[in-house]
Amino acid sequence: MKSAIILDLDGVICDTAHFHFLAWHRLAAEYGYELTQADNEQLKGVSRADSLTFILGLANKTLSTEQFNEDLRRKNEWYLDLVKDMGPLDVLPGVPSFFAEVAARKIPLALGSASKNANMVLTRVGLIQAFDAIVDASQVSQGKPHPETFIKAAELLGIAPENCLVFEDSAAGVQAAISGGMKAVGIGSAEDLPGAAIHLANLGEFDFTNFS
Ligand code: BG6
Ligand code: MG
Repeated sequence: MKSAIILDLDGVICDTAHFHFLAWHRLAAEYGYELTQADNEQLKGVSRADSLTFILGLANKTLSTEQFNEDLRRKNEWYLDLVKDMGPLDVLPGVPSFFAEVAARKIPLALGSASKNANMVLTRVGLIQAFDAIVDASQVSQGKPHPETFIKAAELLGIAPENCLVFEDSAAGVQAAISGGMKAVGIGSAEDLPGAAIHLANLGEFDFTNFS
């Protein structure tokens, strides 16, 4: 039975999870709230609009629809400014060897990202051609922790969900993978990602020996 790999982007392939945090931190400060790293664990994998709703809850603040959309726009502007100089060297440790192994073994590979900036970031780091299928926030109606992103990725690859292994750095993403009938590899600690089958510090630690 052929197996496939589905990768999250932010925090798995590149350190853009940190840039999302910096931009949200700046916006939350305007609301008089100091966003913490612990808050950020809850934001990982969560769509832009759902993230803002979550932060407004933390800050105990409400916004008009117009201001809400304007703040989403500003957050993204700050994020784009942070990623504008990214290039092929700006991938997390172990990424080049992981992609080389996937290519050598001809493993079907998909992206399953909650970001609307996924195509742009993948292009910047020079990895877009490595994927057989890409699913980002623009192609789903329900974001993580709903499994739609990963189910769609599996469908595009033509591989059954139970034969897909999802690599995720977010609790929402691990939950999405499990809800979709897939196994999750947590990029991060067992404490932050309790549902994942195994935990690795980065993609380079993955052992392909028993993967077919
Ligand atoms: C996810 C990130 O991949 O994408 C979240 O983990 C981010 O932090 C979300 O909020 C949406 O990204 P974007 O680029 O559409 O604002
Ligand atoms: Mg992520």
